[in-house]
Amino acid sequence: MNDYAHSVIQDQKRLLPLIDQQLVHRFNKIPEGIPLTDLRSAIKYSLQAGGKRIRPLLCLLACEACDRAAEFALPGALALEYVHTYSLIHDDLPAMDNDDLRRGKPSNHKVFGEAQAILAGDALLTEAFAVLAETENPSAVACLARGAGWLGMVGGQSLDLQFENQKADLHLLRTIHQLKTGKLMKTALKLGGILGRGSSTQIEALGFFGEALGLAFQIKDDLLDATSSAQYLGKGTQKDQQRGKLTYVSVMGVEKAETALEQVTQDALKHLAGLPRPEALTAWAHHLTKRVF
Ligand code: IPE
Ligand code: IPE
Ligand code: MG
Ligand code: MG
Ligand code: MG
Repeated sequence: MNDYAHSVIQDQKRLLPLIDQQLVHRFNKIPEGIPLTDLRSAIKYSLQAGGKRIRPLLCLLACEACDRAAEFALPGALALEYVHTYSLIHDDLPAMDNDDLRRGKPSNHKVFGEAQAILAGDALLTEAFAVLAETENPSAVACLARGAGWLGMVGGQSLDLQFENQKADLHLLRTIHQLKTGKLMKTALKLGGILGRGSSTQIEALGFFGEALGLAFQIKDDLLDATSSAQYLGKGTQKDQQRGKLTYVSVMGVEKAETALEQVTQDALKHLAGLPRPEALTAWAHHLTKRVF
């Protein structure tokens, strides 16, 4: 095992329990007399299906990189995993990517039906803003709104669908990936900096790092779709080609996509230089490039 992998495993051991203790908690209590059992089951099903928790972990690590205890960024971490999980539930719907397998289990709509799946996503998105609003930090709330919203993840998802089966264009592809995956990753890092009381220079640097890391993450996701199998990924593979998606593999092929991944990861790392404690984030950037699921 190399040093980066060792550092990543230590971070997971330390920080995953913090996230997982709280994540489902907010959906356990239903006020008496409101029989919201279907919606609650649909929400808990996807939250507990075994995601990698990359965004909440990076949020906590960004807080630590600003020299503040991870606990301060926990509301940000929860909010991110709620938004991310909602985005996956909706991404799998027949109207979008029409995928039947997610996180190693049948997709939410396959188990609960499309209507409850849409509502589970809506509820997760809304709860994310409730958690962050409780911090009484308006810039944290605004940061999530921008990353998740129409010029962020949702905008990217719209472009992703709009340009299915269109001619390849690297500039457009980069924009799609920056929006659909880069912006929420940027938000993860910035929220850690904001809740960790980092300086505006540090928060900005974390944002640049996050956006580039998010682009790298989606390039790797494109590569895994083309080269891995459902057994490893817990989701269907070869789906991008079937749906005519614009991906790094469709535009430049596997080998060049791997080179682009390497370059974008190096771009991301440059932004960490001025942070008080950049080591953990450096290890994660290397780890995510090499990940096999
Ligand atoms: C999948 O994200 C969707 C993308 C933005 C590529 P992850 O690979 O982080 O999915 P989970 O949370 O581990 O299921
Ligand atoms: C999804 O991209 C990005 C989101 C914002 C959910 P993909 O459609 O490639 O994600 P997977 O491969 O289904 O996880
Ligand atoms: Mg998609
Ligand atoms: Mg998809
Ligand atoms: Mg994909």
